[in-house]
Amino acid sequence: MSDLRVELAGISLRNPFLLASGIWGESGASLAGAWGHGAGGVITKSIGSAPRPGYPNPTVESYERWGFLNAMGLPNPGIDEYPQEITLAQAAGATVIGSIFAHDAAEFAELAVKMAATGVVGLELNLSCPHAEGLGSEVGGDPESVEAITRAVVRAVRLPVIAKITPNSKDPAGLAEAAERGGAAAISAINTLRALAINVPLRRPTLSHGLGGLSGAAIKPVGLACVWQIYERVDIPLIGVGGIMNAEDALEYVMAGASAVEVGTAVAFDGIKVFGRLVKDLTDRLDELGLTSLVDAVGVAHSA
Ligand code: DHB
Repeated sequence: MSDLRVELAGISLRNPFLLASGIWGESGASLAGAWGHGAGGVITKSIGSAPRPGYPNPTVESYERWGFLNAMGLPNPGIDEYPQEITLAQAAGATVIGSIFAHDAAEFAELAVKMAATGVVGLELNLSCPHAEGLGSEVGGDPESVEAITRAVVRAVRLPVIAKITPNSKDPAGLAEAAERGGAAAISAINTLRALAINVPLRRPTLSHGLGGLSGAAIKPVGLACVWQIYERVDIPLIGVGGIMNAEDALEYVMAGASAVEVGTAVAFDGIKVFGRLVKDLTDRLDELGLTSLVDAVGVAHSA
Protein backbone atom coordinates (compact mmCIF):
# COMPACT_ATOMS: atom_id res chain seq x y z
CA MET A 1 0.00 0.00 0.00
CA SER A 2 1.36 3.43 -0.92
CA ASP A 3 2.81 5.70 1.73
CA LEU A 4 1.02 9.00 2.37
CA ARG A 5 3.33 10.31 5.09
CA VAL A 6 4.85 13.74 4.56
CA GLU A 7 7.80 15.49 6.23
CA LEU A 8 7.19 19.16 5.70
CA ALA A 9 9.75 21.66 6.96
CA GLY A 10 10.32 19.64 10.13
CA ILE A 11 6.62 18.85 10.65
CA SER A 12 5.66 15.17 10.40
CA LEU A 13 2.24 14.60 8.85
CA ARG A 14 0.56 11.18 8.77
CA ASN A 15 -1.02 12.15 5.44
CA PRO A 16 -1.03 15.31 3.27
CA PHE A 17 -4.60 16.45 4.04
CA LEU A 18 -4.60 19.38 6.46
CA LEU A 19 -7.76 21.01 7.76
CA ALA A 20 -7.57 24.53 6.26
CA SER A 21 -7.69 27.50 8.57
CA GLY A 22 -11.10 29.04 9.17
CA ILE A 23 -13.15 25.96 8.41
CA TRP A 24 -14.31 23.87 11.33
CA GLY A 25 -11.28 24.97 13.36
CA GLU A 26 -12.72 27.37 15.90
CA SER A 27 -13.02 25.02 18.85
CA GLY A 28 -10.78 22.33 20.29
CA ALA A 29 -13.60 19.82 19.82
CA SER A 30 -13.93 20.59 16.12
CA LEU A 31 -10.15 20.43 15.57
CA ALA A 32 -10.11 17.10 17.40
CA GLY A 33 -13.03 15.95 15.25
CA ALA A 34 -11.13 16.63 12.03
CA TRP A 35 -8.18 14.72 13.41
CA GLY A 36 -10.44 11.86 14.50
CA HIS A 37 -11.83 11.61 10.98
CA GLY A 38 -8.38 11.26 9.51
CA ALA A 39 -6.94 14.72 8.76
CA GLY A 40 -3.14 14.65 8.50
CA GLY A 41 -3.00 17.76 10.66
CA VAL A 42 -5.25 20.66 11.61
CA ILE A 43 -4.80 24.41 11.25
CA THR A 44 -6.59 26.64 13.73
CA LYS A 45 -8.88 29.48 12.83
CA SER A 46 -6.78 32.62 12.38
CA ILE A 47 -6.23 34.10 15.83
CA GLY A 48 -5.43 37.75 16.59
CA SER A 49 -4.13 39.71 19.58
CA ALA A 50 -7.60 40.66 20.82
CA PRO A 51 -11.13 39.22 20.52
CA ARG A 52 -12.98 40.19 17.30
CA PRO A 53 -16.71 39.68 16.80
CA GLY A 54 -16.45 39.53 12.99
CA TYR A 55 -18.94 41.00 10.55
CA PRO A 56 -22.73 40.79 10.97
CA ASN A 57 -24.71 38.26 8.91
CA PRO A 58 -25.00 37.39 6.11
CA THR A 59 -21.40 36.22 5.96
CA VAL A 60 -21.66 33.28 3.55
CA GLU A 61 -23.09 32.58 0.08
CA SER A 62 -22.89 29.08 -1.39
CA TYR A 63 -22.84 28.29 -5.12
CA GLU A 64 -24.00 24.68 -5.38
CA ARG A 65 -20.88 22.52 -5.75
CA TRP A 66 -18.58 25.00 -7.41
CA GLY A 67 -17.81 27.51 -4.75
CA PHE A 68 -18.35 29.40 -1.59
CA LEU A 69 -18.19 33.15 -0.97
CA ASN A 70 -17.51 34.33 2.55
CA ALA A 71 -16.57 37.36 4.59
CA MET A 72 -16.58 36.42 8.25
CA GLY A 73 -14.35 39.29 9.37
CA LEU A 74 -11.78 37.17 11.17
CA PRO A 75 -13.99 36.46 14.20
CA ASN A 76 -11.96 34.89 16.99
CA PRO A 77 -11.69 34.94 20.79
CA GLY A 78 -8.16 36.42 20.83
CA ILE A 79 -4.91 34.71 21.74
CA ASP A 80 -5.41 34.94 25.50
CA GLU A 81 -8.63 32.87 25.37
CA TYR A 82 -7.68 30.42 22.61
CA PRO A 83 -4.89 28.19 24.05
CA GLN A 84 -7.40 26.01 25.91
CA GLU A 85 -8.90 24.97 22.56
CA ILE A 86 -5.49 23.96 21.26
CA THR A 87 -4.88 21.96 24.43
CA LEU A 88 -8.12 20.02 23.80
CA ALA A 89 -7.07 19.19 20.24
CA GLN A 90 -3.59 18.15 21.36
CA ALA A 91 -5.11 15.92 24.05
CA ALA A 92 -6.89 14.07 21.24
CA GLY A 93 -3.47 13.50 19.63
CA ALA A 94 -3.86 16.07 16.85
CA THR A 95 -0.95 17.66 15.03
CA VAL A 96 -1.92 21.33 15.38
CA ILE A 97 -0.61 24.29 13.39
CA GLY A 98 -1.55 27.74 14.70
CA SER A 99 -2.78 30.39 12.26
CA ILE A 100 -2.27 34.03 13.24
CA PHE A 101 -3.12 37.45 11.78
CA ALA A 102 -1.89 40.91 12.77
CA HIS A 103 -1.50 44.49 11.52
CA ASP A 104 2.31 44.68 11.35
CA ALA A 105 5.56 42.83 11.97
CA ALA A 106 5.82 43.73 15.65
CA GLU A 107 2.28 42.57 16.43
CA PHE A 108 2.83 39.38 14.40
CA ALA A 109 5.99 38.60 16.39
CA GLU A 110 4.36 39.17 19.77
CA LEU A 111 1.38 37.03 18.81
CA ALA A 112 3.67 34.34 17.40
CA VAL A 113 5.41 33.99 20.76
CA LYS A 114 2.06 33.48 22.49
CA MET A 115 0.87 31.00 19.86
CA ALA A 116 4.19 29.09 20.05
CA ALA A 117 3.74 28.75 23.82
CA THR A 118 0.67 26.55 23.20
CA GLY A 119 2.89 23.79 21.79
CA VAL A 120 1.71 23.99 18.18
CA VAL A 121 4.09 22.30 15.72
CA GLY A 122 4.19 25.27 13.34
CA LEU A 123 2.76 28.69 12.62
CA GLU A 124 0.83 29.75 9.55
CA LEU A 125 0.82 33.50 8.88
CA ASN A 126 -2.43 34.80 7.41
CA LEU A 127 -1.01 37.28 4.90
CA SER A 128 -3.93 36.79 2.59
CA CYS A 129 -7.47 37.34 3.93
CA PRO A 130 -8.84 39.35 0.98
CA HIS A 131 -11.12 41.84 2.72
CA ALA A 132 -10.13 42.77 6.30
CA GLU A 133 -9.06 46.39 6.70
CA GLY A 134 -5.38 46.67 7.66
CA LEU A 135 -4.96 42.88 7.84
CA GLY A 136 -4.49 39.83 5.61
CA SER A 137 -3.70 40.76 2.02
CA GLU A 138 -3.48 44.44 2.96
CA VAL A 139 -0.26 43.61 4.84
CA GLY A 140 0.57 40.56 2.71
CA GLY A 141 0.15 42.15 -0.70
CA ASP A 142 3.59 43.61 -1.08
CA PRO A 143 6.90 41.74 -0.96
CA GLU A 144 8.75 44.07 1.46
CA SER A 145 5.99 43.73 4.02
CA VAL A 146 5.81 39.93 3.58
CA GLU A 147 9.57 39.67 4.06
CA ALA A 148 9.63 41.94 7.13
CA ILE A 149 6.70 40.17 8.82
CA THR A 150 8.12 36.72 8.12
CA ARG A 151 11.57 37.71 9.37
CA ALA A 152 10.16 39.20 12.58
CA VAL A 153 8.21 36.00 13.32
CA VAL A 154 11.10 33.70 12.41
CA ARG A 155 13.35 35.61 14.83
CA ALA A 156 10.75 35.48 17.60
CA VAL A 157 10.02 31.74 17.66
CA ARG A 158 11.76 28.41 17.12
CA LEU A 159 8.99 26.86 15.04
CA PRO A 160 8.59 26.35 11.29
CA VAL A 161 6.85 29.42 9.88
CA ILE A 162 4.48 28.96 6.95
CA ALA A 163 3.49 32.06 4.95
CA LYS A 164 0.00 31.87 3.41
CA ILE A 165 0.17 33.87 0.21
CA THR A 166 -2.61 35.79 -1.54
CA PRO A 167 -3.55 35.15 -5.17
CA ASN A 168 -4.91 38.74 -5.34
CA SER A 169 -1.55 40.07 -6.50
CA LYS A 170 0.08 40.52 -9.88
CA ASP A 171 2.95 38.30 -8.76
CA PRO A 172 2.05 35.74 -6.06
CA ALA A 173 5.36 33.93 -6.66
CA GLY A 174 7.19 37.18 -5.86
CA LEU A 175 5.39 37.21 -2.50
CA ALA A 176 6.49 33.62 -1.89
CA GLU A 177 10.10 34.56 -2.72
CA ALA A 178 9.86 37.42 -0.21
CA ALA A 179 8.63 35.01 2.48
CA GLU A 180 11.52 32.66 1.68
CA ARG A 181 14.00 35.55 2.01
CA GLY A 182 12.40 36.33 5.40
CA GLY A 183 13.13 32.76 6.55
CA ALA A 184 9.79 31.01 5.97
CA ALA A 185 10.02 27.22 6.22
CA ALA A 186 7.12 26.68 3.81
CA ILE A 187 4.51 28.49 1.71
CA SER A 188 0.75 27.90 1.62
CA ALA A 189 -0.89 28.94 -1.64
CA ILE A 190 -3.55 30.12 -2.09
CA ASN A 191 -6.09 31.90 0.09
CA THR A 192 -9.48 32.97 -1.27
CA LEU A 193 -9.95 35.18 -4.33
CA ARG A 194 -11.55 38.59 -3.73
CA ALA A 195 -15.13 38.28 -4.95
CA LEU A 196 -18.62 39.76 -4.78
CA ALA A 197 -22.28 38.74 -5.05
CA ILE A 198 -25.22 41.14 -5.49
CA ASN A 199 -28.69 40.54 -4.09
CA VAL A 200 -30.77 41.93 -6.96
CA PRO A 201 -34.14 42.46 -5.20
CA LEU A 202 -32.37 44.21 -2.32
CA ARG A 203 -30.16 46.17 -4.75
CA ARG A 204 -27.12 45.61 -2.51
CA PRO A 205 -24.25 43.19 -1.98
CA THR A 206 -25.35 39.79 -0.68
CA LEU A 207 -22.84 39.74 2.17
CA SER A 208 -23.02 42.37 4.90
CA HIS A 209 -19.41 43.32 4.28
CA GLY A 210 -19.82 43.62 0.52
CA LEU A 211 -16.59 42.06 -0.72
CA GLY A 212 -15.73 38.52 0.30
CA GLY A 213 -13.41 35.66 -0.60
CA LEU A 214 -14.23 32.91 -3.11
CA SER A 215 -13.15 29.34 -2.36
CA GLY A 216 -13.98 25.88 -3.68
CA ALA A 217 -13.81 24.06 -7.00
CA ALA A 218 -14.06 27.32 -8.98
CA ILE A 219 -10.62 28.47 -7.77
CA LYS A 220 -8.67 25.23 -8.21
CA PRO A 221 -7.11 26.22 -11.56
CA VAL A 222 -5.98 29.53 -10.05
CA GLY A 223 -4.43 27.78 -7.07
CA LEU A 224 -2.69 25.28 -9.32
CA ALA A 225 -1.18 28.07 -11.43
CA CYS A 226 0.12 29.82 -8.31
CA VAL A 227 1.63 26.62 -6.89
CA TRP A 228 3.16 25.87 -10.29
CA GLN A 229 4.83 29.27 -10.54
CA ILE A 230 5.93 29.36 -6.90
CA TYR A 231 7.50 25.88 -7.21
CA GLU A 232 9.69 27.19 -10.01
CA ARG A 233 10.90 30.14 -7.94
CA VAL A 234 11.42 28.95 -4.34
CA ASP A 235 13.24 26.05 -2.70
CA ILE A 236 11.05 25.61 0.38
CA PRO A 237 8.12 23.17 0.45
CA LEU A 238 4.63 24.22 -0.64
CA ILE A 239 1.17 23.50 0.73
CA GLY A 240 -1.50 23.65 -1.99
CA VAL A 241 -4.86 25.18 -1.12
CA GLY A 242 -7.92 25.97 -3.20
CA GLY A 243 -10.74 23.77 -4.41
CA ILE A 244 -9.44 20.38 -3.32
CA MET A 245 -12.67 18.37 -3.33
CA ASN A 246 -11.27 14.89 -4.04
CA ALA A 247 -8.05 12.86 -4.18
CA GLU A 248 -7.47 13.65 -7.86
CA ASP A 249 -7.51 17.39 -7.09
CA ALA A 250 -4.91 16.78 -4.38
CA LEU A 251 -2.72 14.83 -6.80
CA GLU A 252 -2.91 17.70 -9.29
CA TYR A 253 -1.57 20.05 -6.61
CA VAL A 254 1.15 17.56 -5.64
CA MET A 255 2.26 17.09 -9.24
CA ALA A 256 2.30 20.90 -9.65
CA GLY A 257 4.69 21.10 -6.67
CA ALA A 258 2.80 20.86 -3.39
CA SER A 259 4.05 18.53 -0.65
CA ALA A 260 0.76 18.73 1.27
CA VAL A 261 -2.68 20.29 0.79
CA GLU A 262 -5.31 22.11 2.82
CA VAL A 263 -8.97 21.19 2.59
CA GLY A 264 -11.62 23.76 3.49
CA THR A 265 -14.66 24.10 1.26
CA ALA A 266 -14.95 20.32 0.82
CA VAL A 267 -15.37 20.09 4.60
CA ALA A 268 -18.01 22.82 4.49
CA PHE A 269 -19.94 20.95 1.77
CA ASP A 270 -19.37 17.31 2.71
CA GLY A 271 -18.66 17.44 6.44
CA ILE A 272 -15.69 16.31 8.42
CA LYS A 273 -15.90 12.70 7.20
CA VAL A 274 -14.41 13.91 3.93
CA PHE A 275 -10.92 13.30 5.37
CA GLY A 276 -11.45 9.54 5.60
CA ARG A 277 -12.60 9.43 1.98
CA LEU A 278 -9.69 11.57 0.76
CA VAL A 279 -7.12 9.37 2.50
CA LYS A 280 -8.60 6.16 1.14
CA ASP A 281 -9.06 7.48 -2.39
CA LEU A 282 -5.55 8.93 -2.57
CA THR A 283 -4.04 5.66 -1.35
CA ASP A 284 -5.99 3.72 -4.00
CA ARG A 285 -5.10 6.22 -6.74
CA LEU A 286 -1.36 6.08 -5.96
CA ASP A 287 -1.56 2.27 -6.08
CA GLU A 288 -3.29 2.45 -9.47
CA LEU A 289 -0.60 4.80 -10.77
CA GLY A 290 2.16 2.53 -9.49
CA LEU A 291 3.50 5.14 -7.05
CA THR A 292 4.73 3.69 -3.74
CA SER A 293 5.04 7.04 -2.00
CA LEU A 294 3.31 10.41 -2.37
CA VAL A 295 6.66 12.16 -2.03
CA ASP A 296 7.68 10.67 -5.39
CA ALA A 297 4.88 12.62 -7.09
CA VAL A 298 5.82 16.09 -5.80
CA GLY A 299 6.48 18.43 -8.72
CA VAL A 300 6.68 15.67 -11.32
CA ALA A 301 4.58 17.66 -13.81
CA HIS A 302 7.46 20.14 -14.17
CA SER A 303 9.79 17.61 -15.72
CA ALA A 304 7.24 16.27 -18.23
C1 DHB B 1 -11.79 35.31 6.28
C2 DHB B 1 -10.45 35.16 6.43
C3 DHB B 1 -9.69 34.68 5.38
O1 DHB B 1 -8.36 34.50 5.45
C4 DHB B 1 -10.31 34.33 4.21
O2 DHB B 1 -9.58 33.86 3.21
C5 DHB B 1 -11.64 34.48 4.08
C6 DHB B 1 -12.38 34.98 5.11
C7 DHB B 1 -12.67 35.89 7.32
O3 DHB B 1 -12.56 35.61 8.51
O4 DHB B 1 -13.52 36.66 6.94
